[in-house]
Amino acid sequence: MIDIDFTGKNVLVTGAGGGIGNGLARRYGKAGAKVYLADRDAKALEAPAAELKAMGCEVSVCALDITDEAAVRKVVDDIVATDGKIDMLCNCAGVIIPSLYMDAKSADFEKTLAVNLVGMHKCIQAVLLHMIPAGSGKIVNIASASSRKGVSDLAFYSASKFGVISLTQSVALSVAASNINVNAICPGFVESSIMATGPGFYNVTKEQYLASVTAKVPLGHIQTADDIGNAAAFLCSDMAVNITGQALNVDGGLHMN
Ligand SMILES: NC(=O)c1ccc[n+]([C@@H]2O[C@H](COP(=O)([O-])OP(=O)(O)OC[C@H]3O[C@@H](n4cnc5c(N)ncnc54)[C@H](O)[C@@H]3O)[C@@H](O)[C@H]2O)c1
Repeated sequence: MIDIDFTGKNVLVTGAGGGIGNGLARRYGKAGAKVYLADRDAKALEAPAAELKAMGCEVSVCALDITDEAAVRKVVDDIVATDGKIDMLCNCAGVIIPSLYMDAKSADFEKTLAVNLVGMHKCIQAVLLHMIPAGSGKIVNIASASSRKGVSDLAFYSASKFGVISLTQSVALSVAASNINVNAICPGFVESSIMATGPGFYNVTKEQYLASVTAKVPLGHIQTADDIGNAAAFLCSDMAVNITGQALNVDGGLHMN
């Protein structure tokens, strides 16, 4: 494993109750960071928090809906009040509402954007209020393979995830002079509750769905939450000081742009 040391640093991981968020939190924790786990589903945070504590990590749990700007500001301000700073933000909270495009409802588009894009922005702005005066910080935004190419039954999700890359680049440019790195990761397929929407939508078994997505991946295997955690830790590490505004595909070769 790459030797990354986050001792003395803290990180806020949103969507930490989900499959990928769990892997992200575990990787930051393994590297020695104090990990703040945030999710709108407080119950989903219990298992990852227990796992991190069992690993000897310092961990704190926040029930947080990232669409609530005041709540986001409070969580971030409380972290800074406790630790004196916020070093890293990993934006992983996300939703997916699959639909045939002609059946799709505008309200579902608004819900998707509210979490995947506007909620992400609320978290970014809240941490930047502290990172800019501090003159340092690392932000990693979880985008998607659907940020690279439109997906017929995921128009809203894909549009929101294209937006994540644009937001990442624009914010990276806005804060580069403050020594803050802002990058995105585009995961391919990771088993999680988001991916669990696939079999029901396409009316196939989980095994059939997994086989169909795996067949699309040049390397021949889907990704794990730890794969995404490793990429995020790298982007927040000293090895990546000259990387900003990038979107890193972690998808087994699915996309190469
Ligand atoms: N699983 C995949 O194959 C895959 C692929 C590409 C990108 N992604 C992205 O990875 C991220 C994590 O997804 P996952 O696969 O772990 O799914 P998941 O459903 O397991 O996790 C998503 C988490 O986000 C939380 N969340 C949703 N809305 C929230 C809100 N308003 N405030 C706070 N928390 C909220 C959920 O409670 C959940 O715990 C998402 O952004 C998703 O789009 C996933």
